[in-house]
Amino acid sequence: MKVSRRELLKGVGALTVGAGLGGFSLAVANGVMAQDEKKVQTLPDLPWPYKKLDPVLAAEDGYAGYYKGACSYGVFESIVGQLRKEVGFPYTMVPTTLLVVGQGGMADTASLCGALTGAASAIFLVAGGLDPKKREVAYKIIQEVFLWYEQTALPDYKPNKPRFESIAKSVSNSTLCHVSISRWCKVSKFKAFSKERSDRCGWITAAVAKYTVEMLNKHADTTFKTIHTLSPESQKCRSCHDRGSVLENTRGIMDCGGCHFSPKKEHPKI
Ligand code: HEC
Ligand code: HEC
Repeated sequence: MKVSRRELLKGVGALTVGAGLGGFSLAVANGVMAQDEKKVQTLPDLPWPYKKLDPVLAAEDGYAGYYKGACSYGVFESIVGQLRKEVGFPYTMVPTTLLVVGQGGMADTASLCGALTGAASAIFLVAGGLDPKKREVAYKIIQEVFLWYEQTALPDYKPNKPRFESIAKSVSNSTLCHVSISRWCKVSKFKAFSKERSDRCGWITAAVAKYTVEMLNKHADTTFKTIHTLSPESQKCRSCHDRGSVLENTRGIMDCGGCHFSPKKEHPKI
């Protein structure tokens, strides 16, 4: 069959018009979808906008969250949950369930106290980011919360409707779940897997949520200042063992005494 160039062009023309219409509506539909997807998929870089929150509400939400998804989730959700209401997007996109994994010092290994994992994550979300300067700011706030936790007799907040009316306070001298729990067991005489110990960690979750929000509120007011610093003894240790020191064979912005050199064991003669 012979088709003239003219006919061919006509045919192609009809085809393109047909395809054009269909294609147009398809393109429009795709465009709308792409825009919607963009909205959903393009999360802004950190830090995300923060609105000052109610620390006591965070504490109460933290306690409730503890009984839903444990310590780490409790703190994280208490803060992100309030921001979801106060700010909305992008906080509506945060899968706070992820932080359940911080439970029991990360997957029940009793490493870093889960309440602190939740706090550090929330702080980083609203104050951190890839920018090293932002990171530094977020880390200062995180370090403040960690050192407060190490040095303070906790829990220092009583939930409105606690499972147990009274919970003993203890100083952990450590950010480790393991140490924090065992020091509390020593003081309270309760077992590590008792209901009382579990409730104590609910109170701790509330206390950490509250303190974290207090610090974030100060950050929002640009009045944040470090309150808790490393003990002079640990600072001394770091002057010989940490960054920029002669030995530089360790790192740690934490209390050294909890693990090294109990009164029974002396530092080697130097
Ligand atoms: C004046 C410097 C200085 C200070 C302060 C200091 N250290 Fe040391 N530390 C040393 C030196 C030097 C050694 C021996 C290193 C070696 O033998 O390689 C040492 C060894 C150690 C060791 C190894 C112990 C062993 O049995 O071999 C540990 C752990 C340690 N220091 C922790 C600490 C802690 C914790 C503190 C604070 C309480 C501290 N150091 C304070 C200088 C210091
Ligand atoms: C959670 C417990 C813990 C804490 C807290 C801790 N350390 Fe350690 N540190 C250890 C362990 C465990 C080792 C490994 C010891 C070994 O292998 O003999 C170690 C190793 C060291 C070593 C190397 C020791 C050597 O034999 O050469 C130094 C120095 C040291 N730590 C200093 C410090 C300082 C300074 C701090 C405080 C900033 C600190 N540590 C906090 C547990 C801890």
